[in-house]
Amino acid sequence: MASQILVFLLFVAATSVSVHCNSEGDALNAWRTKLMDPNNVLQSWDPTLVNPCTWFHITCNSENSVIRVDLGNANLSGPLVPELGQLANLQYLVVFNNNLSGSIPTEIGSLTSLVSLNLHHNQLTGPIPSSLGNLVSLSFLKLNSNKLGGVIPSDLFLLIQRGNLIVM
Ligand SMILES: *[C@@H]1O[C@H](CO)[C@@H](O)[C@H](O)[C@H]1NC(C)=O
Ligand SMILES: *[C@@H]1O[C@H](CO)[C@@H](O)[C@H](O)[C@H]1NC(C)=O
Repeated sequence: MASQILVFLLFVAATSVSVHCNSEGDALNAWRTKLMDPNNVLQSWDPTLVNPCTWFHITCNSENSVIRVDLGNANLSGPLVPELGQLANLQYLVVFNNNLSGSIPTEIGSLTSLVSLNLHHNQLTGPIPSSLGNLVSLSFLKLNSNKLGGVIPSDLFLLIQRGNLIVM
């Protein structure tokens, strides 16, 4: 009986560890399920792998955490999803020259390691979320050639004034 309980506890522990390890893969896969990908650029995105680090267009750091998503010129349609905000160590989110639509999720403002956010030339609409003012590491923000409305939020404007951020 005791050994059965031990086996059960080990199973629970192993399960929760693997779930934790692939939470970034799950976040990216949640995005993939919302995208149209006629050129099959996301074909290697296999959510059953232990992490997304071997997927094409994804780069991880030595701790197997995602630091780059490089999907410029990929002919993708669909939205950016709130789950992208779970990629805690993401530094580069590069999705220029696609057909992405909908608004920029507020959750992108959780990506405090983000250095470059390149959304240039898509079909994005809605306001620029003020949460982007939380992106203290950001040095390159390219939003032009979209259909975004509103003004540059004051929090983001403060980042620009502080120095290192280039906005296009
Ligand atoms: C992009 O996808 C569309 C189908 O949605 C296709 O007609 C077009 O040829 C593709 N463009 C490129 C450059 O691959
Ligand atoms: C762009 O996205 C829209 C809406 O998601 C879709 O209807 C349209 O076919 C897409 N255009 C191309 C060229 O892929």
